[in-house]
Amino acid sequence: MSLGKIIDEKNNDLSKRLDMQKVPQHIAIIMDGNGRWATKKGLPRTYGHKRGVNVLKEILKASKKLGCKVLTVYAFSTENWTRPIKEVDFLINLFREVLRNEIEEINEESIKIKFIGDLTPFPENLKKIISSSESLTRNNNEFLLNVCVNYGGRQEIVKVAKELAIKTFSGEIKPSEVNEELFNSKLLTRGIKDPELLIRTSGEKRISNFLLWQLAYSEIYISDVLWPDFNEIEFLKAIIDYQSRNRRFGGIESLPNESLEDSQYSS
Ligand code: FPP
Repeated sequence: MSLGKIIDEKNNDLSKRLDMQKVPQHIAIIMDGNGRWATKKGLPRTYGHKRGVNVLKEILKASKKLGCKVLTVYAFSTENWTRPIKEVDFLINLFREVLRNEIEEINEESIKIKFIGDLTPFPENLKKIISSSESLTRNNNEFLLNVCVNYGGRQEIVKVAKELAIKTFSGEIKPSEVNEELFNSKLLTRGIKDPELLIRTSGEKRISNFLLWQLAYSEIYISDVLWPDFNEIEFLKAIIDYQSRNRRFGGIESLPNESLEDSQYSS
C-alpha cells in the first residue's frame, strides 16, 4: 500500500525516507506531557488527557497504515494513584468514555484491545466495560492495542517471580527449569513479541517502570514534543530514526573484509 506524501515542517516528504519493509512490528509508547501541555495553555490538566486520546487515535491509524501490528501504550501507571483524586477520577471516567464511544469502531477496524495491569482497584463499571471490550474484540487479528493501566514493570516481575517460587516450592517445577523462556511465558505480555521501539514524548529520558523486562533490547526514541501535540509526522520521524539504528543485541557489527585476527584488537 502506498503511504502518500507526509510533509514535515522543513518541507521534506517523510514517506520517501521510510522503508516500509522495516517498520517495527511492535511499538511501545509512553504518552507523556498531557498535563504540561494544558498548563502551558492556561487550561486544567485534564484537557491535556482529553486531547491525548485524539492523538492516540491518530497514532493507532498511522500504525495500521504503516504495517505495524502491535501498539502498547502506558495510560496509567501504578504510581499515578498519587495524583490528586480529581485527576485520577477524571482519567478513570475518560477510559470508560473512550471505550463506550470508540469500541464499535475499534472492532470494525479489526483491532483487538487488551488491558494490561492489575485491574482490581478500578470501579466495577470500568472493569465491566474493559471485560466486554476485550471479549468483543478477542478474535480480531489485524492489530493489537495493549493499554497498560495500573501497570508497573517491577510489580509484574515480582508477580512472576512469586508464581515461579510457589511452583518450585510445591515441586511442580525444578529450580533448574526456571529460565527466560519460562519467565516470559508468565508475563502479562506472554505470546507477544517484545517491542522493537519505545517512544517517549515530552523530552523525559526515563523508562518510568514501563515494560522493564520487555524493553531489554528495544531502541529508545525520545521526542521533545508533548503528547497532545504528537502526530503522524512525529511518529514517522521516530520510525525513520529507528530504521537508521544498527541493532546488535549485545553482539558486534560484522564489518566487510575484516576478521577478528585482522582487527586492531588482535594480539
Ligand atoms: C501522561 O501525561 C499521560 C497520562 C498519565 C494519561 C494518558 C492517557 C490517555 C491519553 C488516555 C488513553 C485512554 C485509553 C482508553 C487508551 P502527564 O499527565 O504525566 O503529563 P505531565 O508529565 O505533563 O504532567
